[in-house]
Amino acid sequence: MSFDRNIKIAPSILAADFADFGREIQAVEAEGADWIHVDVMDGHFVPNLTFGPPLVKAIRRHIKTVMDVHLMISPVDQYIDAYADAGADILTAHIEAGPHTHRTLQAIRGAGMKAGLALNPGTSVETVAPLLDLCDLICIMTVNPGFGGQSFIESQIAQVVRLREMIGDRPIHIEIDGGVDAKTAPLVSAAGADVLVAGSAVFRGGSVDNPSPYGENIQAIRTAAVAAA
Ligand code: DX5
Ligand code: ZN
Repeated sequence: MSFDRNIKIAPSILAADFADFGREIQAVEAEGADWIHVDVMDGHFVPNLTFGPPLVKAIRRHIKTVMDVHLMISPVDQYIDAYADAGADILTAHIEAGPHTHRTLQAIRGAGMKAGLALNPGTSVETVAPLLDLCDLICIMTVNPGFGGQSFIESQIAQVVRLREMIGDRPIHIEIDGGVDAKTAPLVSAAGADVLVAGSAVFRGGSVDNPSPYGENIQAIRTAAVAAA
C-alpha cells in the first residue's frame, strides 16, 4: 500500500446484504470503491454485534482493493494475530478500548498490518499526540459507533482540522466514519480528511443485481469531496 492524500471512498459492508458479502464487495469495487471498510462489533464495546475473524477471512478473497478493518471491540490485543491471519491490510482499534493503546498499535504493526486508531466523538484529538508516530491512520468517528444510518455530528469537523495540523507531513491517513454522504463529504475533505467511510449513502437504492446506484452514490460523494479538498 503506497501513501497518498487523494480522496478515497471506503464503503462499509455494514450496509450490505449480510447473506451475500462476496457479491456485494465485487459490486461496489466494480462501481468505484477504493477500499472496503469492515465493521467488527462485539456487543460489549458497542451495543451491537456483527462478525469476527472467520467471516473477515472468508470475505478477504473477494476484496481486490484494501481491506480496512475497524474493530469496535474490547479488549483488542488477543485478537490481533487472528485479523492478520484473516488478511487485514489496515487494523484500526479504538483509543477508548483499553488502557494500553501504545502497546496495541505496536502489536498491530508487529503483526505486519498498518495500524489505525479510532476516536469516539467524546474523545479529544489531543489524546493521540503521544501516539501519532505509531499510527498509519486515524479515524475520527462522526457518529457514536455501533450502528449505520445515524446523523453526522458536525462538531467533529473542528477536531479534524486540529488533527490535520497535528499530523503535519507525517504519512497518516485521516479517515471519517459515520453519516458521510454527498452533503457532509465536502465538510470533512475541506477539513483535511482523505478516507471517507460510507455505508448507507453508498448502498442505498442498489443491489447486486442492480449495482449502478452504488456507482452513482460513490461518484456523488467523491465529486463533492474532491471539489472541497
Ligand atoms: C458505525 C460504523 C460505520 C458505519 C457507517 O459504527 O463504524 O462504519 O457503517 O455507516 P453510515 O455511513 O450509514 O453512517
Ligand atoms: Zn466503521
